[in-house]
Amino acid sequence: MIITTHSSLQVCENLDKTLPRIRNMSKPFDVLVIGELNIDLILNELSATPKIGAEVLANEMNLTLGSSSAIFAANIASLGLKTSFLGKVGSDLFGRFTMEELRKGNVDTTSVLIDATTKTGATIVLNEMEDRANVTFLGAMANLKMTDIPFELFDQFHHLHISSFYFQTGLKEDIGYIFQSARKAGLTTSFDMQWDPLEKWEINYDQILPHVSIFLPNELEIIHSTKSRSLPEAVNKIKDLCEILTVKMGVRGSIMYSMGNSIEHPSYHNPKVIDAIGAGDSFNAGFIYAFLKGYPVDQCQKLANIIGAISTTMAGGTTAFQKKVSFRL
Ligand SMILES: Nc1ncnc2c1ncn2[C@@H]1O[C@H](COP(=O)(O)OP(=O)(O)OP(=O)(O)O)[C@@H](O)[C@H]1O
Ligand SMILES: [Mg+2]
Repeated sequence: MIITTHSSLQVCENLDKTLPRIRNMSKPFDVLVIGELNIDLILNELSATPKIGAEVLANEMNLTLGSSSAIFAANIASLGLKTSFLGKVGSDLFGRFTMEELRKGNVDTTSVLIDATTKTGATIVLNEMEDRANVTFLGAMANLKMTDIPFELFDQFHHLHISSFYFQTGLKEDIGYIFQSARKAGLTTSFDMQWDPLEKWEINYDQILPHVSIFLPNELEIIHSTKSRSLPEAVNKIKDLCEILTVKMGVRGSIMYSMGNSIEHPSYHNPKVIDAIGAGDSFNAGFIYAFLKGYPVDQCQKLANIIGAISTTMAGGTTAFQKKVSFRL
């Protein structure tokens, strides 16, 4: 397979071409993303690490579509899956920008709710090398509630993805039930918890993971949220609760646990990393794309690593995928 984007990275890989999973093609959409929406104001090339009481300069600035869920939606749509978003924004400039960017990325926004009583969420990203400090104003993100979800909508989709558990304060207690309802409606499901900004790491895995087909945390998130001291300890606590557990490990790649087996896959070398913003969401998009196309799980993991690496070749989470990614299988 050759993957081409307008980024600097081109990857040649052999993916198994057997596609055993049979999809019901009569549904109007492939993927429903329920989640948070915000803008990212990204400041790059800082003159020093910012400190309270001092001022530093940034040599570069970008305003982009933020939020883990939106980056995932835009990137899986650019891989070619019909994707729709259910979230909430304010009736303001950032809300309009967010919707416009989703539409530009071929994501259906008919289920995005506009709530004039609140403001669209925003994250200021202070980017240094391959990591960053973020400050987020939740705004409308915190106002999305289970009562905003028309469950009959699930019939139009093959798959449900939810991300950013700790940012969705109005929804997080009900996420297990939402996944369970989606599974009952015949959808497969995926979940990326993301970082807990309050670092309390409270989550009821027993309520959520039995209804999750693919769980996609990163290494630190799974360790903190299971109150463990190491990755093996964390994995042992939860790996049997969901069908597939994939742990993202940045430049070291990923490790996946499925049906009693584990597969470690190194990352693809990008000689010129611009930033790693959205690498995890891009990884998720690659994995779910391959999963819904029916590839075996080891191939899903391989494609996920490729898409994660491609994301690091350009600024922000979606830039590397703004032109349609082409596959030659
Ligand atoms: N510097 C890099 N070079 C190549 N590939 C990378 C790099 N950083 C990340 N990746 C790929 O992207 C995947 C996901 O990245 P990462 O582990 O940073 O996810 P994450 O911590 O969930 O990120 P996010 O902050 O987007 O939520 C990795 O498993 C790897 O395959
Ligand atoms: Mg992540």
